[in-house]
Amino acid sequence: MRKALIPAAGLGTRMFPATKAVKKELLPMITPDGVCKPILQSIVEEALSAGCDDIAIIVRPADRDLIASYFSPCSDAQLARLKDDGKAQAAHLADISRHISYVEQREQQGFGHAVHCARDWADGQPVLLLLGDHLYSSNEARSCARQLLDAFDSLEPRATLSLYQAPGSTVHHYGTAGGSWANPQHTLLDIAEFAEKPSLDYARQHLAVPGLPHDTFLCVYGQYVLTPDVFRILGEQIAANRRLKGEFQLTTALDELRQTQGLRGFMVNGEHFDTGQPREYLSSILAFANKRLPTTP
Ligand code: UTP
Repeated sequence: MRKALIPAAGLGTRMFPATKAVKKELLPMITPDGVCKPILQSIVEEALSAGCDDIAIIVRPADRDLIASYFSPCSDAQLARLKDDGKAQAAHLADISRHISYVEQREQQGFGHAVHCARDWADGQPVLLLLGDHLYSSNEARSCARQLLDAFDSLEPRATLSLYQAPGSTVHHYGTAGGSWANPQHTLLDIAEFAEKPSLDYARQHLAVPGLPHDTFLCVYGQYVLTPDVFRILGEQIAANRRLKGEFQLTTALDELRQTQGLRGFMVNGEHFDTGQPREYLSSILAFANKRLPTTP
């Protein structure tokens, strides 16, 4: 059994007031083959594509029934109204729902806090963590999450996160990693420093990675493999009330893990699309819908 975790308990304030009516993870997207579905379903499918068959969604208690009802079988009356395509989608939903369970985050105290809520569910195993408000599109037959898990499985177990090249003008929005390449192909990075939303000046001084174009940095893609120690460190940070900008951050825990056990970066062959901000949502769903489908071997 392989575990995947999808946090979807955030408040989505940057998408307000839409998020007063609809959780941002349930906003619609269109797949390249023309299916309209909630963003969250696409992320569940990304986890399944990586071979995960035990998927936990982190929810606010008030949202649990709504999300669980989406991932539950359609009624006979609903099914009777659907054409064949719709019936196939309903059967697919019923199939994937068998793999989903729910973990509650009672207070919205940040991404790291949400992840920590799943410590018992994780049960001491490595966990694939996928951001709940991103779309992922691979440039090869293996999905982005599959590529990451393959990299994790092929090396000694160490927390690993996917990275992508980002222009310096955007680093203040994202977790950014610096370090040295661990292989000649420049696909694996030994992370020497990890900063949450650094300024460009800070990134230039501390996070430059050799071989990248001028003012280009390595930012977090939204996919991670967490080892059990991440949950332990998050627990310690919460007990000590160590917050960043008022919230418990995963980045802080990963940076502490880096200092004691090392942290690995993986250059994924794919693209990700942020859907958590209004203009990014618009450009992301358009770009994703218009993506060419990768060919299967
Ligand atoms: P964001 O950093 O985008 O935060 O969360 P947010 O609260 O959802 O949105 P804004 O910043 O208010 O606009 C990244 C992921 O972590 C989840 C979110 O649902 C999203 O998938 N998250 C965040 C939680 O599950 N709980 C939290 O307390 C915060």
